[in-house]
Amino acid sequence: MSILEIIEKKKNGWELDKSEITEAFLGYMNGTVEDYQMSSLLMAIVLNGMTFRETVDLTDIMLYSGKKLDTKKVDGVMVDKHSTGGVGDKTSLIIGPIMACLGLKMGKLSGRGLGYTGGTIDKLESIPGFRVALTTDEFIFDLNKVGFTECEQTPEFTPLDKKIYDLRSVTGTVSSIPLIASSIMSKKLAVGADFILIDLKVGSGALIKNKKDAIELANTMIEIGKAYNRVVIPVLTNMNRPLGDNVGNALEVIEAMDILKGKNGNLRDLCIELSSNLYSRAKHVNIDVATEAVKRVLDDGKAYDKFIEFTKMQGGDVEKLELAEHIVPIKSTANGRLKDISAEEIGKLALELGGGRKKKGDTIDYGVGVVINKHIGDSINEGDILCYLYQRDNTDRSLEAMKAFTIVK
Ligand code: URA
Repeated sequence: MSILEIIEKKKNGWELDKSEITEAFLGYMNGTVEDYQMSSLLMAIVLNGMTFRETVDLTDIMLYSGKKLDTKKVDGVMVDKHSTGGVGDKTSLIIGPIMACLGLKMGKLSGRGLGYTGGTIDKLESIPGFRVALTTDEFIFDLNKVGFTECEQTPEFTPLDKKIYDLRSVTGTVSSIPLIASSIMSKKLAVGADFILIDLKVGSGALIKNKKDAIELANTMIEIGKAYNRVVIPVLTNMNRPLGDNVGNALEVIEAMDILKGKNGNLRDLCIELSSNLYSRAKHVNIDVATEAVKRVLDDGKAYDKFIEFTKMQGGDVEKLELAEHIVPIKSTANGRLKDISAEEIGKLALELGGGRKKKGDTIDYGVGVVINKHIGDSINEGDILCYLYQRDNTDRSLEAMKAFTIVK
């Protein structure tokens, strides 16, 4: 069947068989299917969905576009964690070191920013020298030595996901249950961890906006996991508000380090919850014991030291992190109480500042972003600083920034 017929078939709501999905997606990887044709097929999938069988087939095609890690070469129990995407979500940078300190092995394949949501690979790349592309041998070596390693899709690891991911990010084809499930699960299955925690973000700043879709996505990923004999642990978490205070690549690495050095708040709480959940499942200990162990490695600084070991192992130097030179305070024009901070608006602001991609191949600015200065429930006086924008120019973005904050009397 030609690519045009495959697009037509999905556009008309029919189920594609595996040979048709293979033809379209591997054709795209090999260059016989063009960007505009794949964009069109992806949009048809967004609008008409995929059956579970199609979703598993797509996952399998993505997985075997590269190779699976030989997990026999990794010493110890392997765990993995992935977020479905949000604003200010730097949890992997905190959970990975915690898991490693607790004797587990967390080797993680991640992606870059998708739309206005951030991606861990861009965050890591903001650390000067950090290598995000590893060979499978390097990945295994680092994992055995440090206990935590993180890299992007490469010619060896789910290369098809990389190509599709980059296209989805700039064509409005990100928010689709089968596309998200196959993208995430292909990466998780390529590494092959025994326990895979999925942080399912739900809310205005997430790819998934409501609980019903989140549950459907969770069930899809659990079933894909079962088909490959892997345990998938979904946890639904709120993404109506940004996670933590910093949004923007280098700024998020800095905040992750602050948490590892003892900063409190919703980000630390979530990392403790997710880490304890994963540790308790992987080590078969009850949740209270797990939570205590997690807090211990955070509080005694071991997880911070592990983060530094991890960044050095991949060539990065956090001392050289660089931020944009113009720091613009955004002041409240009203008195009242801070009722809400919109994750979506903050994400869009960070994208506008240059922290994300609007079209394929865009280079991003790692040093720009937003630092939130007030928290929900705070009382606000006119002139109080709500947030700071880290920007390269002097453009006044106060109107866009104010849209993110809801202040009530
Ligand atoms: N993370 C991924 O790896 N893929 C998606 O599609 C969404 C979030």
